[in-house]
Amino acid sequence: MTKLENQELIHFEHIPVMLQEISEHFHLNTDDVYVDGTLGLAGHASYFANKIQPNGWIIGFDWDEKMLRKAKENLQQLSDIHTLFIHDSFSNIPETLTAFKQKHPHNPIKAILLDLGVNNMHFVDPSRGLSFMYDGPLDMRMDQRKELTAEWIINKWSEKDLYEILVKYGDERWHKRIVASIIQQRKIQPITSTLHLAEMIRDAVPAHVRRMKIHPATKTFQALRIAVNEELDELSQCIKEISQCLDPDGTLAVISYHSGEDRIIKHAFKDLTDKHTHTHISYEVLTKKPLTPTLEEIKLNPKSRSAKLRVIRKKTS
Ligand SMILES: C[S@@+](CC[C@H](N)C(=O)[O-])C[C@H]1O[C@@H](n2cnc3c(N)ncnc32)[C@H](O)[C@@H]1O
Repeated sequence: MTKLENQELIHFEHIPVMLQEISEHFHLNTDDVYVDGTLGLAGHASYFANKIQPNGWIIGFDWDEKMLRKAKENLQQLSDIHTLFIHDSFSNIPETLTAFKQKHPHNPIKAILLDLGVNNMHFVDPSRGLSFMYDGPLDMRMDQRKELTAEWIINKWSEKDLYEILVKYGDERWHKRIVASIIQQRKIQPITSTLHLAEMIRDAVPAHVRRMKIHPATKTFQALRIAVNEELDELSQCIKEISQCLDPDGTLAVISYHSGEDRIIKHAFKDLTDKHTHTHISYEVLTKKPLTPTLEEIKLNPKSRSAKLRVIRKKTS
C-alpha cells in the first residue's frame, strides 16, 4: 500500500494513531464490516468507511455518549455508509455481532479495531476531571451512567487499595509518599477537585521530580482513570471473545498506551494461537513484537509516542 499523505491522516483536526500500519493489515472490500470498538472522533472509522462503501457496514462503539454523538456527526458528514452506533463498552461486541450476523449473513466481519484509552477532547473538558491542567470535579467516568468516581476512590478507598492502583495502573514510583499525603489530607477535608489533588501530589514528591518535564500527577491521574473505568478488567475479559467474532481472514488490531494493557493483549493473542491447533480455525499473530509509531508520526502527533500496535488474524484450514 502506498504511503498515506499527512492530509489523509488528519480528520476533524484529529490524527488517527498508526493509521498507515493498521491499513496495511486490514484488507477491506465493499461488502465488509468494519467494527470500531473505540470510535472516539471516528478518525480511523472515517478512513475505513471509504474502503467499504457502498455496501459495507461500520459498527461503532463508545461508552462515552458525547463522543458517540460526535463520531456519528463526523461519519455522516463524510459518507452515507450503513452504520450502527452502540453506546456501550466494547465488551458488548460479541453480543452485538451475533445479532448482526443473523440479520446480515452476507457481510463478513473483516476488521475490528480497539484504540484504547481516552480522546484529547476528554482531557480539555474540565467537567470530566481527567486533567490536572484544569480545575474540575474528580469525576473521570467515561460512562456517566456508572457510579464509581475518582472522588470516591480518593476519599474512601483504603491505603492498601490506593497503593495497589498507583503501582498497577500507574507504575508510580512515589506511591507511598503520594498515598500518605492523600490519607493525611482527607482527614482534614474531602479532596474533591483535580487541582487540589494535583497540587498535593506535587508537594508530596521529592524536589527533583517536581523539576521534571512530566507533571508529577500524570501517573496518579492515569491510574485513577483506569481504576474508575475498570479499563484493564474490561479488556482482559473480552479480548479473546472479540477475536472469535471475526470471519475467516478477518483481522483484529489493538492499539494500547500503557504496559498493563499491552501485556493483556500479548497474552490473550498467545492463548488464541496456542488453543485452536486441533480445530479448523486458527489464529496468526501478525506482529511478533508490537509495532510503534514512526518518528515522523510522533513529530506530527506527539501524543502517539506511547502507542503499541498488535494485530491478529483468524484463519481456517
Ligand atoms: C483513543 S480514543 C479513539 C480515537 C479514535 N480511534 C479516532 O481515531 O477518533 C478512545 C475512545 O474509546 C472510548 N473507549 C475507551 N475504552 C472503551 C471501552 N471499553 N468501550 C467503549 N469505548 C471505549 C473512549 O471513550 C474514547 O472515545
